[in-house]
Amino acid sequence: LSNGLALTPQMGWNSWNFFACNINETVIKETADALISTGLAKLGYNYVNIDDCWSEFFRDSKGQLVPDSKTFPSGIKSLADYVHAKGLKLGIYSDAGVFTCQVRPGSLFHESDDARLFASWGVDYLKYDNCFNLGIEPEKRYPPMRDALNATGRTIFYSLCEWGVNDPALWAGKVGNSWRTTDDINDSWASMTTIADLNDKWAAYAGPGGWNDPDMLEVGNGGMTYQEYRAHFSIWALMKAPLLIGCDVRNMTKETLEILSNEEVISVNQDPLGVQGRKVYAYGPDGCYQVWAGPLSGQRLVVVLWNRCSKTASITAKWSVLGLASSISVSIRDLWKHEIVSKNAVASFSARVDGHACEMYIFTPLSVTHSAS
Ligand code: DGJ
Repeated sequence: LSNGLALTPQMGWNSWNFFACNINETVIKETADALISTGLAKLGYNYVNIDDCWSEFFRDSKGQLVPDSKTFPSGIKSLADYVHAKGLKLGIYSDAGVFTCQVRPGSLFHESDDARLFASWGVDYLKYDNCFNLGIEPEKRYPPMRDALNATGRTIFYSLCEWGVNDPALWAGKVGNSWRTTDDINDSWASMTTIADLNDKWAAYAGPGGWNDPDMLEVGNGGMTYQEYRAHFSIWALMKAPLLIGCDVRNMTKETLEILSNEEVISVNQDPLGVQGRKVYAYGPDGCYQVWAGPLSGQRLVVVLWNRCSKTASITAKWSVLGLASSISVSIRDLWKHEIVSKNAVASFSARVDGHACEMYIFTPLSVTHSAS
């Protein structure tokens, strides 16, 4: 969507994966505080996004949405002021149906009223869900909110949460700044890998202004190992997925913060070229030795070697699968070790990768080596 936003994938935090409906204004404020104190905000995580359950179960007598008076007694405007004062942005949630998934009022047929209300509160981002949609096609239900947001005059990031229904990559580029390509993620290796593969299919449709959304991060929620979370974060970054933290940032382990704060991985996600990397090669048992790669600005490439088997293995990326001539000499930087691991690799590069782990690199092609013959 050309509204000037999403030139790179959105970054921030969302309440759903960890808190679900257990949210209140204190949690949101403390989260904003923690994004600042942990340094995450400085790294680009600037959206603080409230998901489902922020509103009362009924509209008021004028037909307006009302923040839950027990959990958000100060209202959303005051929350927006609070996060804005910290240099952050506030996101809210509604639904392109008659109710949200947790049965709060939805915005279908109330698009203008609700968009105006959100804008008047100073909201910067809307996630728009897909429950209770009366069986109307998403292609019909999502554009009216785009138009309503646009009509407010406030620039609001528009995140479509249509769960991949009707292949949104094919139609949502003109509707939203990102669109979900799949059902909900859960905090498991099986879910994360399945979703990565489903999202991969739509790589060609992502770009500045509109991104494929394989759902929010589970890093730090406890259901995966350190290496699995590292792979989750690496692949989401490579796929130009929104980097929306889904854990309790007020109580992160050192490991969680280390993963989420990897500036080199974040810079892959935020690279101005904006091309979604993809799975370019898979081999070995059930194709579990995988090479994921994509172009970056400055003629560079991002390359992830991902071992989806459970035993350690050596994984090789041949220049041919990366689209490089085999004679090209490449400098290789490891984004998790934070060091150059090869100054002039030629033809292929291999690394030992633990089960369920990945290694992530930036390849900088140096020159064509002329063979003396
Ligand atoms: C379904 C969405 O896909 C989730 O991300 C979350 O927003 C829930 N609904 C909230 O009810």
